[in-house]
Amino acid sequence: MATEMAALLKPVSKIGYCHSTTILPRRISTIRMSAATTTTPTKPSGSGKNKNKKAIKETLLAPRFYTTDFDEMEQLFNVEMNKNLNEAEFEALLQEFKTDYNQTHFVRNKEFKEAADEIQGPLRQIFVEFLERSCTAEFSGFLLYKELGRRLKKTNPVVAEIFSLMSRDEARHAGFLNKGLSDFNLALDLGFLTKARKYTFFKPKFIFYATYLSEKIGYWRYITIYRHLKANPQYQCYPIFKYFENWCQDENRHGDFFSALMKAQPQFLNDWKAKLWARFFCLSVYVTMYLNDTQRTAFYEGIGLDTKEFDMHVIIETNRTTARIFPAVLDVENPEFKRKLDRMADLNSKIIAIGETDDIPLVKNLKRVPHIAGLVSELLAAYLMKPIESGSVDIAELDPQLVY
Ligand SMILES: [Fe+2]
Ligand SMILES: [Fe+2]
Repeated sequence: MATEMAALLKPVSKIGYCHSTTILPRRISTIRMSAATTTTPTKPSGSGKNKNKKAIKETLLAPRFYTTDFDEMEQLFNVEMNKNLNEAEFEALLQEFKTDYNQTHFVRNKEFKEAADEIQGPLRQIFVEFLERSCTAEFSGFLLYKELGRRLKKTNPVVAEIFSLMSRDEARHAGFLNKGLSDFNLALDLGFLTKARKYTFFKPKFIFYATYLSEKIGYWRYITIYRHLKANPQYQCYPIFKYFENWCQDENRHGDFFSALMKAQPQFLNDWKAKLWARFFCLSVYVTMYLNDTQRTAFYEGIGLDTKEFDMHVIIETNRTTARIFPAVLDVENPEFKRKLDRMADLNSKIIAIGETDDIPLVKNLKRVPHIAGLVSELLAAYLMKPIESGSVDIAELDPQLVY
């Protein structure tokens, strides 16, 4: 899993290309996230062996951990009960995962620490946040896939093994990002995260929609950043981006696996309810990314990207990919869709700004009401825009450029 279903955190000041010469002390701190879904920062641990551990804030839409109805999953993947399961296709996918194309890809070098030491000022904080959020999102995928691999072992060993191999990929991604944090003298406490985070329950059908979109949007985010930095190496200020080319192929394969899973469950794709849910999940994922990223323009500008242009490119490409399997998608190429996203981003900034004033909570809430109402109304209007009827196309027929 790659993308962030992430938080609406504080806006950051706009800054340009990273460059500095100050070097920070090399003390490592461990970052924890609280289990509470509030916008209040948790208190840093202040004594004993925890004195170097600091907490980071978790907000309502911070990268989430998911759980599902594993009994229903077992039924869905029981080959006796589900004759749509194309065993040959899953066997072929399993062989591909076993090949493990990226087994030797994630090897670090001394460039990392040197580059991190050069990143100072506001961009340093933004980089740390990027690494933390990405690591949490990858780790979330690891936990879900690992559990699915464990729970489906008896019912469908092939599908179970693919899940286990995907959890291997996600553990590698999360570990690589956490090593990146060590370049900034920090580390995410993943053991603590596993126990302390709140898990969001989604029925299997919703896990399929959300995870498919998450993998594909992750693919498009990584490949877009990689191609941009390859063409504009002056913005290549931290070597992790050089790994995105192969890395995103893992996410692409994960997405293709979910595509195969959904084809094996046509009841999730072929009725009017499926069309409504497909549009809902597309909208949730696109809006979440847009609102989050427009609160973090410093990061994208720091690597030479225009945040909104980058997001629209990712949304359009993800939507085109998704249209191959989802029964309906949003008309994101209609200029009105972007206008609505921009209005939502403005309203979101106002809501966040109110939260940062010194007003008492009641006054803040009252001030927020009209903006929240405006945001909900824009969301609804975007959802109700004329959709694009789409449908399942065999993944073997995918446009070659999609596979990169
Ligand atoms: Fe990943
Ligand atoms: Fe993934």
